[in-house]
Amino acid sequence: MPRSAVAIALPPAELAAVSAQLVEAGYDAIAVNTAEELAILLVERHDIGVAILDGENDFDRTIEMYALLHDEGRNIPALMVVAARALDRMGLAGRARVSDEYFTRPYSAESLRWRVEAMLIRAEVPTDDSTGGVIDTDDGPPVDNADSRRGQIVIVFNPKGGVGKTTIAVNVAAMLQIRKGQRVLLVDCDTVTGHVASSLGMENVRTVADAWTDDLTTGVVESFAEIASTHENGVAVLVMAESPLHTEILEPKRVAEAITTARQAFDWVVVDMHPDYGPLNQVIFERADTILVPVTPDVPAIRAAVQLREVAVELDIRDRLAMVVNRANSGVSVEDMERTVGMPALAEVRSAGMLFVRAANEGRSAVERFPKEKVIDDIEELCDRMIATAEPSVAKTGSGFLGIFGGGRNTNPSVRAS
Ligand SMILES: Nc1ncnc2c1ncn2[C@@H]1O[C@H](COP(=O)(O)OP(=O)(O)O)[C@@H](O)[C@H]1O
Ligand SMILES: [Mg+2]
Repeated sequence: MPRSAVAIALPPAELAAVSAQLVEAGYDAIAVNTAEELAILLVERHDIGVAILDGENDFDRTIEMYALLHDEGRNIPALMVVAARALDRMGLAGRARVSDEYFTRPYSAESLRWRVEAMLIRAEVPTDDSTGGVIDTDDGPPVDNADSRRGQIVIVFNPKGGVGKTTIAVNVAAMLQIRKGQRVLLVDCDTVTGHVASSLGMENVRTVADAWTDDLTTGVVESFAEIASTHENGVAVLVMAESPLHTEILEPKRVAEAITTARQAFDWVVVDMHPDYGPLNQVIFERADTILVPVTPDVPAIRAAVQLREVAVELDIRDRLAMVVNRANSGVSVEDMERTVGMPALAEVRSAGMLFVRAANEGRSAVERFPKEKVIDDIEELCDRMIATAEPSVAKTGSGFLGIFGGGRNTNPSVRAS
């Protein structure tokens, strides 16, 4: 049965704002004040997909409510407010039950809506591969889901350097893997200026160029999943080549095929790209479900993005472009950026001083190193939007937010961060 209702135990002002957002997104928002009310609700309705709980106020009541979510064979994910301090001390990032999520005050009702939407979608789509491409829901006919079950290819590209491609690729990959329970392959396709592996402290890993060179003598062909090395945060990391001088073996078509095949083993294939329009990049563009375009609010970066938009028209991939306004807190509005660049913005990522550099110096992503920093909330919101909009099989009417990714490509609404 589609899980379309959300139980909410929040103080009145927050309840009103969050309910309004959820109703707008097409969900039933049901207020619950006590554990007894929640117990009755759970008996009466079987379509409660998420419960929003307040772990900051009235902790006892919250614990009782939480227990109810897992009573009698139920397994309803909780989205729980906790104090920032507690989140830090509990070390929840990454270790919580995969289906539960946590957030801290202050938060925006809109960002919560994206969290809920992503959670509901994940609850409906099992992540293991044992179903053989067919998901049979409680009611209704079986859905042939072979295509929607495959992972999404997300490439991060802007022809200008220094706009945040690598930073966004690394941290989006970590967020999807650690907090969202997704299987992620992070591919460093920038054989010249790339530093995905080095920023994750993974020097001297086996590369695709190494593996394919070995293939020539052994005859054993390895998949990208097999060649990749796993970072301690769980992300599978794949480097194309150690040196820009040994890339002849990376035949573009073969690379594109291997990336496409990797979708069977991963929920997300995130590709950090070198800033050029060469043959390798062109074949990867063709295979991408989404092209995240980091743009910083400065003239050279905006110019590069406008050029990309024009090239994308020529390559017939314009509807896959989604801008990420990076270093967004510098005075230029997202609306201005959308108008100027002519691309819908999926999210903004604020300027984070030296956080990304400091995390990279320790060989970690900022998601694990600085989990409670505001910029990580931005990365989380970006990922929630990616998840909420990527799943074509769960398309809802009245939501208005689908369309940048996957199946509903043609509607392409302009989506803004609040
Ligand atoms: N939102 C941000 N806040 C602070 N520093 C950032 C941000 N985005 C990127 N940076 C920094 O800017 C530099 C260039 O980013 P990078 O991701 O390497 O760009 P690209 O891959 O597009 O060349 C890096 O030192 C990175 O840490
Ligand atoms: Mg880079």
